[in-house]
Amino acid sequence: MTKTALITGVTGQDGSYLSELLLEKGYTVHGLVRRSSSFNTERIDHIYQGPQEPGRRFVLHHADLCDGVALVNLLREIQPDEVYNLGAQSHVRVSFDAPLYTGDATGLGSLRLLEAVRAAGIDTRFYQASSSEMFGATPPPQNEGTPFHPRSPYGAAKVYAYWSTVNYREAYGMYAVNGILFNHESPRRGETFVTRKITRAVARIKAGLQRELYLGNLDAVRDWGYAPEYVDAMWRMLQQDEPTDYVVATGVAATVREFLETAFGHAGLDWREHVRHDAKYERPSEVDALIGDASKAERLLGWKPEVRVEELARIMVDADVRQVTAELAGTAVRVDR
Ligand code: NAP
Ligand code: GDD
Repeated sequence: MTKTALITGVTGQDGSYLSELLLEKGYTVHGLVRRSSSFNTERIDHIYQGPQEPGRRFVLHHADLCDGVALVNLLREIQPDEVYNLGAQSHVRVSFDAPLYTGDATGLGSLRLLEAVRAAGIDTRFYQASSSEMFGATPPPQNEGTPFHPRSPYGAAKVYAYWSTVNYREAYGMYAVNGILFNHESPRRGETFVTRKITRAVARIKAGLQRELYLGNLDAVRDWGYAPEYVDAMWRMLQQDEPTDYVVATGVAATVREFLETAFGHAGLDWREHVRHDAKYERPSEVDALIGDASKAERLLGWKPEVRVEELARIMVDADVRQVTAELAGTAVRVDR
């Protein structure tokens, strides 16, 4: 029997990779898209199937995590076997500028979706995109038993969504799990997250389109993995006999400065000649160090990461160099596939 999945955040980095994975596995995939005044489907255009296409297995719906009634209607209509809640205002720095909206979309939005599953009266498995940001100020290594101490409105909203997911599992016996994912990146990463901001700048500096790159705190330590591998972990979490929560990480630490060294070095550039400081990119309260212990995911899911931070930086620089080269040649195609 073909399975049906609903993905919120389908237009984002993870949503696009997860859609590809599920389509490969034979699923029919429904994606929730926010209405925008311009096209916001660039990451999924290559798998888009129009309403006229016979036997289509990729279907997009307009809705929003802030609109609970639309979510109930959508779940009643689709009756998915699996729901992946990836939608969120996901930028930590922006969450200080828009804390209430972040709380609404990222925190309450998850509860709306859980409640919509219940209201629709359907039997479905639920994945919540939880985050290592929830650990915040608690020192590494962090695993499933590490106490949360969020340091941003985004982190606090994710803690709310985390506990709502646990509560629906305990209160209603729902198969609901939290994937506590550490930072994961790719050529599809949003351009304002630090890794992509760096690799895009490397490509533009190399091409003579830019000279300087303004950044904030270079001392932050992160555990950076490769997004296509992380969406596989999400899928595995929904295929188990019992629902439980998992950390997904590489266990390898690097500072922003070390990422700069690798990314600029890969293009034959010295980052010190180009990087400047701007306090605008610092956070009112920073998360100093995130390094995950994913041994539970390896033991129970058989999941193990292959790509480590240095290879990741090289993959992203190469993709951005190809992208900039194509743009300069007037070829308006995405080259990250
Ligand atoms: P992303 O690229 O920023 O994508 C976020 C998605 O959420 C986009 O599709 C966005 O739509 C959608 N969205 C935003 N507000 C929404 C709303 N009000 N209603 C419905 N959809 C909304 O994020 P990502 O990196 O793929 O991450 C996926 C999820 O994992 C997020 O929940 C994120 O917080 C979480 N997470 C990410 C990481 C990471 O390192 N990437 C780590 C841990 C957890 P538009 O395209 O229209 O903006
Ligand atoms: N974005 C950004 N821009 N970050 C900068 C900059 C800059 O110019 N300069 C330094 N940084 C530092 C930030 O202060 C932070 O310590 C680190 O780089 C990583 O920042 P981001 O790439 O924005 O990611 P994040 O760690 O804050 O959040 C990401 O990972 C979380 C999981 O730990 C996001 O994807 C979240 O959605 C996700 O939950």
